[in-house]
Amino acid sequence: MGCFATGVTVVTCIGPDSEPVGLTANSFTSVSLDPPLLLVCIGKTAASAAAMVGASHFAVNVLQTEQQPASIRFATRHEDRFGPNDWSPGEYGAPVLDQSLSVFECEVHAIHDAGDHHMLIGHVLKARFDAGLDPLLYFRGSYRRLHFD
Ligand SMILES: Cc1cc2nc3c(=O)[nH]c(=O)nc-3n(C[C@H](O)[C@H](O)[C@H](O)COP(=O)(O)O)c2cc1C
Repeated sequence: MGCFATGVTVVTCIGPDSEPVGLTANSFTSVSLDPPLLLVCIGKTAASAAAMVGASHFAVNVLQTEQQPASIRFATRHEDRFGPNDWSPGEYGAPVLDQSLSVFECEVHAIHDAGDHHMLIGHVLKARFDAGLDPLLYFRGSYRRLHFD
């Protein structure tokens, strides 16, 4: 799978204690256009897994090149992942990271059991993107960026 180049997202929700929760995820894909559905797979052993499967809404923040530090931060345990000024609640409550390339705000549509992961399927309620930003990419265990000759 490492040979399949992807973008990088941070998936967020509000946890049971009203705290922001998020983790880096590249297992993100579109599922359906009508209705608009997407999915992301959350490892069952992730500390944020319980919050993610218990939330009614979540957001997928698609990262741009300048957000590589955020990708690393949201993939590292025992660290304050949400800085004081770089996020705000989205329209449906889930945290939206400032400067993201794109944000999908979702209501949970279904959760499927899939081996050691939960497949979290979201119904997209709101989406936005910034056409001026370039995506952060991930390929064979390293961060990459687009380049054109
Ligand atoms: C580029 C990248 C992509 C990742 N994709 C996923 C993913 O799709 N699903 C997942 O559960 N973890 C994924 N991870 C790992 C989680 O971000 C990592 O396990 C994180 O520490 C989990 O945090 P938590 O245990 O605090 O919930 C990815 C990590 C990186 C660096």
